[in-house]
Amino acid sequence: MQHKTIIEPFRIKSVEPIQLSTEKERIENLQEAHYNPFLLLSDEVIIDLLTDSGTSAMSSSQWAGIMEGDEAYAGSHSWLHLERVIKDLTGFEFILPTHQGRAAERIIYGHLGGDGKTFISNTHFDTTRANIEFSGAEALDIPVAEANDMGSFHPFKGNMDVLKLEEIIAKKGAANIGAVILTVTNNSSGGQPVSMENAEQVAEICKRNGVLFLLDCCRIAENSYFINHREAGYENQSYRQIAQQMFNLADGAVMSAKKDALVNMGGFLVLKDKKLADACKSLLIITEGFTTYGGLSGRDMEAMAIGLEEVFDPHYLEYRIKSTEYLGSRLREMGVPIIWPTGGHAVYVDAKALYPHIPPQEYPGQSLVCELYRLGGIRSVEIGSVMFGKYDEKGQLIPAPMELVRLAIPRRVYTQSHIEYVIETFAQIMKERETVKGYKITEEPEFLRHFTAHFEPA
Ligand code: F0G
Repeated sequence: MQHKTIIEPFRIKSVEPIQLSTEKERIENLQEAHYNPFLLLSDEVIIDLLTDSGTSAMSSSQWAGIMEGDEAYAGSHSWLHLERVIKDLTGFEFILPTHQGRAAERIIYGHLGGDGKTFISNTHFDTTRANIEFSGAEALDIPVAEANDMGSFHPFKGNMDVLKLEEIIAKKGAANIGAVILTVTNNSSGGQPVSMENAEQVAEICKRNGVLFLLDCCRIAENSYFINHREAGYENQSYRQIAQQMFNLADGAVMSAKKDALVNMGGFLVLKDKKLADACKSLLIITEGFTTYGGLSGRDMEAMAIGLEEVFDPHYLEYRIKSTEYLGSRLREMGVPIIWPTGGHAVYVDAKALYPHIPPQEYPGQSLVCELYRLGGIRSVEIGSVMFGKYDEKGQLIPAPMELVRLAIPRRVYTQSHIEYVIETFAQIMKERETVKGYKITEEPEFLRHFTAHFEPA
């Protein structure tokens, strides 16, 4: 018999209690946290959808690997294990372990960047952009136009606009391009996938112009699932083969292992070119650690090596993508405006459309984030004018183009009943949508204000 229900393809061996709370307690918690979920304590949260990064549940094999970790400073067998797994997967010769994704970004973009350099991406993730801009270089985002159309179906809204890529390279001069970075899946643009065809076009343009082509590959297993299911010609290739084919197009890759390597901490940089790898290795040793551990313990490397293989298990990926899609589809059926189709690791709600009566100056995304916590103890993150808003000379807010709230799903952590609970909370959100009020900022730091800003109901 063919079952319709996609079950979690694992049993639960170890459990972590969730502290349940009442709405009254949560209203007090919100006040104490100045209406900023980043300032809530983990114990005050019932379902934590703040991020899918570093929040995965490890498997029994990974925990067993933790005990096998070899903590030798140089040449540990855990390093050899990790190096072998990454080489087999990516095909790259030079492997540099780092403590997380942004450490790899600091090394490679710090080295390639500097004044007058331009980096081009489908969309740079915040830390990627920050590392590039910190070096003095500029970071340009060129997603395809379909990425801006939230409600209509397009199989690969994460793609890069290749015509613009040609134009920018011609305008700036190939020698001034630090690198072209394809982020798979495109986190800052709805977790949407990138097609193999698009990656091939980008690779061809980079090759023809002599420009370095890198992947930001932290969700490449999820991206491979979408290629297998949506792009003609890939139905019969394994997810791993698809990922390998994409790696084969690039000159290197940066990975935050906190996503698709199913670990709580870790990352790496992989490169084809020896000269570039040697320069990066020097920076690795100065800032992270020796080349056979980077910023990692032997046990971390062991768990990462195992996670990088587990993530390509077809049953896992099917469950992963289908369960995110389940949440997205149910919300959409209820009339909740979301980015469609659902991305791989998260559902993105359009708070501007949900609360049309709240102007961007009163942060509709912040309202939704607070409502989700008040009604359900659910923690999510605003990706709108709180995160990306800027001020003009007169101190008026220049709003972000979109007012989104991201519900990121930790890997292998929540069951379907947790997701049903989230859906039920949204039913109440829909009932109360007309009476919800906006927020104003009462205190904010100069940079990355979303982490620590204080708010008050407007
Ligand atoms: N690149 C992408 C596409 C990411 O999503 C992240 C992190 C990084 C790089 C940086 O990796 O955190 O290990 O230093 N994204 C997390 C998120 C923080 O919530 O989306 P890191």
